[in-house]
Amino acid sequence: MKGISVKNLLGVKYLSKDDINLIFDTADSFKEILNRKIKKVPTLTGITIANLFFENSTRTKLSFELAEKRLSADVINFSKTGSSISKGETLIDTVNNILAMKVDIIIIRHPSPGVAEFLTRNTNSCIINAGDGTHEHPTQGLLDTYSITEKLGTVDNKRILILGDILHSRVALSNIFALKILGAKIKVCGPKSLIPKFINNLDVSYESNLDNGLAWCDAVNILRVQNERMNETYFPSLREYHNLYGVKMSSIKKLRKKILILHPGPINRGVEITSEVLDNKKTIVLDQVENGVAIRMAVLYLLATKRKDLTDFN
Ligand code: CP
Repeated sequence: MKGISVKNLLGVKYLSKDDINLIFDTADSFKEILNRKIKKVPTLTGITIANLFFENSTRTKLSFELAEKRLSADVINFSKTGSSISKGETLIDTVNNILAMKVDIIIIRHPSPGVAEFLTRNTNSCIINAGDGTHEHPTQGLLDTYSITEKLGTVDNKRILILGDILHSRVALSNIFALKILGAKIKVCGPKSLIPKFINNLDVSYESNLDNGLAWCDAVNILRVQNERMNETYFPSLREYHNLYGVKMSSIKKLRKKILILHPGPINRGVEITSEVLDNKKTIVLDQVENGVAIRMAVLYLLATKRKDLTDFN
């Protein structure tokens, strides 16, 4: 079997259509295992994985850890709080010290765009990007695209609306790359101030009106307003943001068709989506979370298989 073409997962932009299809096919097999009574396989026995989180996370951190444990890897966790970073240790020194403990794979979440790529150039390890600032969050882009594929059969020629704070989102770029590679049509929607100027270069168009965007799409992926990354005011108030770009039941009821509603989380209830839409099971948010474990198992398995130095099961 032809394996994945990359040695690290730095971004979806480095993946081919064959890579993404291989990840999805592999995730299908792992999803089947995750629905068994005994959800564990010995695939990564003997491999040690370090999860390095320099930013807060619930879904990605737990999902990677669970994926690693389901594959029988040995797992260690690092968070910035309580580490020797506060004593002035550099990132490269931190990672090289962790690698000296015979760690094979590094998962890293960090606020700085490009940090995963920086580590591939300055350390000798297999690196998986778990979200680098406003740049990419490849496993999230993959699991969102996988979840849409699972529900609609394909994303080829499907119309996907990405709604909200595109400017500060790493999920937006990874979704755009994955969806485009698989043939989807994409529009972004939100306040113009939260749309990056380079968006047209990605063959993605802009829709300013939420109701028009919802009427156009087969699926909408709603992104969180990332207040923690904003150093200035991008819209007058959260109330006005919600009035114009919050997904409400009134907008959903106006549609003469069913659309898929996704959100990668965490969710600001009452800002980008109302509790009424969320709690009426109008969304596939928890399907996304479930699929995240299978997608991360697939990525770990395919990268470990690629690195013949790590495994002898190739
Ligand atoms: N979707 C996502 O990245 O969530 P966390 O920040 O909780 O990991």
